[in-house]
Amino acid sequence: MAAAGVGVTACSGPDEHNPRLPDPNAQATIAKSAVPEGSGVIVGEFVVTQPEKGEFAAYSAACPHQGCNVTDVVGDTIQCACHGSQFAVADGSMTQGPATTGLTPATVTEDGDELQLTA
Ligand code: FES
Repeated sequence: MAAAGVGVTACSGPDEHNPRLPDPNAQATIAKSAVPEGSGVIVGEFVVTQPEKGEFAAYSAACPHQGCNVTDVVGDTIQCACHGSQFAVADGSMTQGPATTGLTPATVTEDGDELQLTA
């Protein structure tokens, strides 16, 4: 009978075994005009959305499933390509797993024609 070995496997996957929390020090700036109405855009560590004209919201881009950054905003859906989770532009809530919770809200502050984003 072979002795059971302790296997150590290098993980080259995207954060699959190293979930991370949203970066508490993240910040970014984006022009309001760069955020599509009824949709959103990924800016560094954030996803910025404009669910209704002139109403902006921001979330951490860190997927609550296993910590990949979300990868795309298509229409009213924020998508994570790592395992297929999806989130609503309207409020960051989870609309398709495997994530079980929505995106973590961030702070968005309007400054003239720009938006300041902070964790
Ligand atoms: S990290 Fe698994 S779906 Fe986003």
